[in-house]
Amino acid sequence: MDGIRIRGGKPLAGRVRISGSKNAALPILCATLLSDGESQLRNVPDLRDIGTTAQLLETMGCTVHCAPPVVRVKPNNVTPEAPYELVKQMRASVLVLGPLVARFGRAKVSLPGGCQIGSRPIDQHLKGLEALGATIRTDHGYVLAEAPRLRGAEIVFDMPTVTGTENLMMAAALAKGRTTLVNSAREPEIVELARVLNKMGAKVRGAGTGVIEIEGQDELAPFDHAIIPDRIEAGTYLVAAAAAGGDVLVENVPVEDLETLIAKMRAAGVTLEPDGSGVRVVRFNPLRSVDVTTAPHPGFPTDMQAQFMVLMCLAQGTSQISEAVFENRFMHVPELIRMGASIDIHGHTAHVRQAKRLDGTEVMATDLRASASLVIAGLVAEGETLVRRVYHLDRGYERMEAKLEALGASVAREHHVEG
Ligand code: EPU
Repeated sequence: MDGIRIRGGKPLAGRVRISGSKNAALPILCATLLSDGESQLRNVPDLRDIGTTAQLLETMGCTVHCAPPVVRVKPNNVTPEAPYELVKQMRASVLVLGPLVARFGRAKVSLPGGCQIGSRPIDQHLKGLEALGATIRTDHGYVLAEAPRLRGAEIVFDMPTVTGTENLMMAAALAKGRTTLVNSAREPEIVELARVLNKMGAKVRGAGTGVIEIEGQDELAPFDHAIIPDRIEAGTYLVAAAAAGGDVLVENVPVEDLETLIAKMRAAGVTLEPDGSGVRVVRFNPLRSVDVTTAPHPGFPTDMQAQFMVLMCLAQGTSQISEAVFENRFMHVPELIRMGASIDIHGHTAHVRQAKRLDGTEVMATDLRASASLVIAGLVAEGETLVRRVYHLDRGYERMEAKLEALGASVAREHHVEG
């Protein structure tokens, strides 16, 4: 298994370009199942999760040309079944459920199970498909969904769910009549999926608000689409530059999708200036602690909580960081404490005090964003940090060590044989 070795203490300087969005590309890859022609995605990041999705589509019978930044998919001979081996590698595989049942009248998809950051049920996806007329049963760890033709309906989510909203938007795009999704998630990736469904001929209105209306069609056309930049990758480099100090231009940043993070970073004393399609980040002053509570978009993103916590380890005072989206997303905390951080967890809130300093040591990555936070901590720490199990990082950050190296960091990938 690969690890990343970082020699800390160097400020970052230069430019870094943000890749296409993982969480936008994944549902859009699944949307290719909704038509029978060949669709093309451009600006797709070269990530393990993209490879897993391509493999899943191929396993089901699609012809896939996966050469990021371009991926082409032609779903000509589909068996609508998603096996456990692939779904367990990536929960987002559940995004094939809606398109499969809508287009092929049935789907057999493995239940994803829990993961490091929480139990993450899919009850809202299933409840919504039932409301559209599907019969759902679970059997030996698989969801079996059937419907000769889905019918539009009003669906009220118990909580805003990103992939739940996406799954039902895709299902509704081929349902008969109009579907209204109430209390839907408002993330930019949902707006991006709506753009693609509209290119395919569906009529989707209201994406980005809490109420989305979809006028279902009998058939949808293939599409050609360039994916938006990844707001979480962008946020991660903004925080990394602020934590390590220096002067970095992060290029290709969807600034309007990062307003909450940018406001918190400014409140913490970081200078962030829009510059063309990017943001220049400089840290002149000592950092001040600020409190943060994660929330669905446009609130503070849970996917930035771990990285932001490292910044708060360096800030004067005490910061309270509350995780309100997932129940178990503090797996990075014990590793940061091993590096010298001063953090206590009380329920869903971490109390983060300024650390005298962070020390390099060997740490273990547990999930994607936790891994990114450990890399940032390594950039700041005195001495060497070895972040093990970076396969988590490879799921969601394209060539992270190369991008950091180009900014002057001392980072190297190593291969380890784990005992
Ligand atoms: N939830 C339910 N029932 C459901 C669906 C969700 O109880 O049927 C709960 C979840 O357990 C959680 C909350 O609702 O407490 C919100 O979860 P959501 O469904 O929005 O998360 P997701 O769709 O599974 C996506 C991203 C995650 C990101 C979250 C929150 C993708 C592929 N994944 O997950 O991204 O953290 O939204 O913004 O879009 C990551 O990229 O590292 C990542 C984990």
